[in-house]
Amino acid sequence: MSYFEIRGGAPLEGIVTISGAKNAGLGVIPAAILAGEACIIENLPYVSDVSCFGRILTQLGAKVSLEPNGVMTIDPSTINCLSATSNEVSSFRASYYLLGALLGRYGMVEIALPGGCDIGDRPIDQHIKGFEALGATVTIDEDNALIRAEAKRLVGCEVYLDMASVGATINIMLAATRAEGRTTIVNAAKEPYIVDIANFINMMGGSVRGAGTDEIKITGRQRLHGCTYAIIPDMMEAGTFMIAAAATGGNVVLNNVIPNHLDAISAKLLEGGALVEVDDDGRDFYVRVRADRRLRAVNIKTQYYPGFPTDLQQPMGALLTRAKGRSLLIEDIFEHRFKYMDELKRMGAQIVVNNRRAMIDGVEELCACDMRANDLRAGAALVIAALSAQGTSRVYGIKYIDRGYEHFEHKLRALGADITRAD
Ligand code: UD1
Repeated sequence: MSYFEIRGGAPLEGIVTISGAKNAGLGVIPAAILAGEACIIENLPYVSDVSCFGRILTQLGAKVSLEPNGVMTIDPSTINCLSATSNEVSSFRASYYLLGALLGRYGMVEIALPGGCDIGDRPIDQHIKGFEALGATVTIDEDNALIRAEAKRLVGCEVYLDMASVGATINIMLAATRAEGRTTIVNAAKEPYIVDIANFINMMGGSVRGAGTDEIKITGRQRLHGCTYAIIPDMMEAGTFMIAAAATGGNVVLNNVIPNHLDAISAKLLEGGALVEVDDDGRDFYVRVRADRRLRAVNIKTQYYPGFPTDLQQPMGALLTRAKGRSLLIEDIFEHRFKYMDELKRMGAQIVVNNRRAMIDGVEELCACDMRANDLRAGAALVIAALSAQGTSRVYGIKYIDRGYEHFEHKLRALGADITRAD
């Protein structure tokens, strides 16, 4: 079983280049199905969720190649199968975008119910509501854990989302792109991924307006063409490195970032006493984070974008275990996202969890220990805790980290971290 061995205590120092956004890439890859021709997608992170999605499209008959530099070519014109039921499909969340993409393109789809990180109940009722409003019939076969959707025609409509779900917004956008007429998504998610996927659809000749606001209008098109498109930088990876820099009392410059995507994280690090500077080198923006070994406590409530992202609640929780004073974390999006705190407590962290609230009394030092990650961002949080602790820790469950962080340990090592992957 693989694990990271981490000797903590050294501040992270140097320059790190942020990879493409996993969550945007995982929407753009299936969106390529909507085109009648090949698309080239650049700046994808070389992580296991991305390569897994490539294999799934290949199983459907598409021609797919993925280079280690993050360039994926997808030719969907050879797709000859509309059923994706392998274990790989149920192993990650974003496979559910096949529903919107294949339904939109071919009017029929069957997939295994999606899996993904165990961070709480993850219903897909809003996705289904959207497909049905477009005219599809959706059935769930609980016995075989399958979901099917079919429609003779999809017709534009208005869909109101009960909550600003990222997944539902993207899925409905995908299906509506090939529907007849105009679809309006009201109370849409505003995350940068949504804008990126909308830009990709538009580059293929689609018409998506208003992405990034809470009302998105999609005018269906009968034909979309191929294109070349580069994914935006990953705000969650950037946020993770910003928090890791602050947690270790380091001094790190992040390249390939869009600074305003990081406003919520920067604000909380500044409030805790870190220095966060945005500058440009004449061509591109960069962000520098510098901090003393212990920040001040801060209170955080996770929210939809542009609020503080739930994905960074876990790395931030690790940082706050050593902050001066008492912090309150409120997790408002996913109910099981505090499980990693049991591992932090074994390092000596003082945490009381009550339902969706965690009260953290910062301690001077964490002590190294062996820990197990149970989801992607929890994995990053445990690595950050180990980097800021005294002594040598092991973090197990790194298959989760590999799902979403490209070359994580290499990037950390280049910043001076003592981290190795071992079996
Ligand atoms: C996506 C991201 C994930 C991130 C999350 C919130 C991907 C692959 N994953 O997940 O990293 O943590 O956004 O930013 O992009 N909900 C319903 N019914 C639905 C859909 C959602 O009740 O039909 C609820 C969920 O249970 C959750 C909330 O809405 O409480 C937000 O979920 P959503 O935004 O859909 O998250 P995902 O798309 O699953």
